[in-house]
Amino acid sequence: MKIENGMTLPELPEPLSHAGLQFTVATEEDFDDIMAMSQDIYGGLDYLPTRYTTWLQETNRTVILARKQGKVIALESVCVIDDGETMLVEGLRVAPQERGKGVAGVLLRFCSQLVKSKFPEVKVTRLTRDDVLGPKDFQKYRLITKQGILLVRFRAEDLKLRLSELGPDGDFHSPSSISSSSSIPPPVCLDHKDIHRLYLATDLMHGVLPNATIVQDWQPFKPVPSNMAILLKKEIDWMVDDVTSPTVASLCTFPFRVPIGDDWYYLNIDMFGKDLALARQQFLCHLRRHTASLKGHVMCQMFLDPPLWKPMADFCRQNLGVELVKEYTEQCVCESDVV
Ligand SMILES: CC(C)(COP(=O)(O)OP(=O)(O)OC[C@H]1O[C@@H](n2cnc3c(N)ncnc32)[C@H](O)[C@@H]1OP(=O)(O)O)[C@@H](O)C(=O)NCCC(=O)NCCS
Repeated sequence: MKIENGMTLPELPEPLSHAGLQFTVATEEDFDDIMAMSQDIYGGLDYLPTRYTTWLQETNRTVILARKQGKVIALESVCVIDDGETMLVEGLRVAPQERGKGVAGVLLRFCSQLVKSKFPEVKVTRLTRDDVLGPKDFQKYRLITKQGILLVRFRAEDLKLRLSELGPDGDFHSPSSISSSSSIPPPVCLDHKDIHRLYLATDLMHGVLPNATIVQDWQPFKPVPSNMAILLKKEIDWMVDDVTSPTVASLCTFPFRVPIGDDWYYLNIDMFGKDLALARQQFLCHLRRHTASLKGHVMCQMFLDPPLWKPMADFCRQNLGVELVKEYTEQCVCESDVV
C-alpha cells in the first residue's frame, strides 16, 4: 500500500478541488506541524507521537496530509489489511480552526479514491470511532462490532501496592482467606505457536471474538495469516483463560507515553468474551505484569463486551481503588463499501 513520497497524487475530481486543498504524502519533516495541530485530541491519549515514525515505514500504510496554502491542516492514515480487501482509516484529525467546514469529509473521500485507484481489489473501508453515531452515520456505515470503553487512571506505584493486597481474583485478603488460592486456574500467556493455533488453525476463537474481529488498540483485523503477521510484530501480551477451550481472550498493548503530561503512560487492553470473572482475572494479570516495572501516571483503557462495563467499573473503583476518568462510552468498528 506504500505510496511513495514524491509520487504524483491523483488530480482531485471537481467537487473535491473546490475545497482549495492540496494533498501530500507525509514525511519525517512534517512531524512538528502535525503535532502542532493535534493538541489535546483524544483527551490527551494521542498515539500518533509514538507511532508516527513506524507508520511512515510500514509497507502497507500511507499517511496523507491535507494542506491549505502549504500549511498542514489535516491528516489521515490509510492501511491495506485483511489480505488486501480492507482499507483501514486511522489517525484522522483536522486542525482546530478548520473543523466543521467539511475538511474531514474531503480528506476521507480523497484517500478512498487514492486507494481505489492504486488497489482495485480493496472492497471496503473500516474505521473505529468513539463518538456517538447518528442515523446519518448509519446510512454510510455498517456496524461490525462495538465494545464498551472503560478508562481509569492511577499511579503505577499505588496500584502495585494495592494489587499486592488483593487475592488472584481481585478480592480482598481476609485473615481466613489469605492462604486460599483462586477457584479458577490462572490465565495463560500465549506464545506465537499458540496464537497461530488458536486464531488461525482452529475455530476455537469464533465464540470469543466479537463478529470474528480482533480489535487491537483500535485496529480491527480479521483473523487471517497476513494480519497475524502484522500483529505478531507488535509488542502485545496475548492471554486466554484456557488454551484448549477459550472463553475469554485479551490483548494488552505494551504501555507507551502519551502527550497528556510528562510521566504519563497509556495502557491498552482489548478484552473479548462475556465471562466477568475470567475477564477480571485477565485484567488483573495484565496490570500485575505492567505495574511491576512502570513508574508514574497511567491511563488504562480497556475495551470490553458492553454488559461487562458496569461491574468492571465497580470493581475498578471498589477493589482497585482507581479513578474512573469518564462514564460509559463505546468503540464502534464501522465499515462501508469502497465505491
Ligand atoms: C473528527 C474531525 C476529524 C472532523 O473533522 P471536520 O473537518 O470538522 O469534519 P467535517 O466538517 O468534514 O464533517 C464531518 C464529516 O467527517 C465525517 N466524520 C466526522 N467525524 C468522523 C470520525 N471520527 N471518523 C470518520 N469520519 C468522521 C462525517 O461523517 C462527515 O462526513 P461527510 O462529509 O461524508 O458527511 C475533527 O473534529 C477532529 O480533528 N477532531 C479531533 C480528532 C478526532 O476526534 N478524530 C476522530 C478520530 S476517530
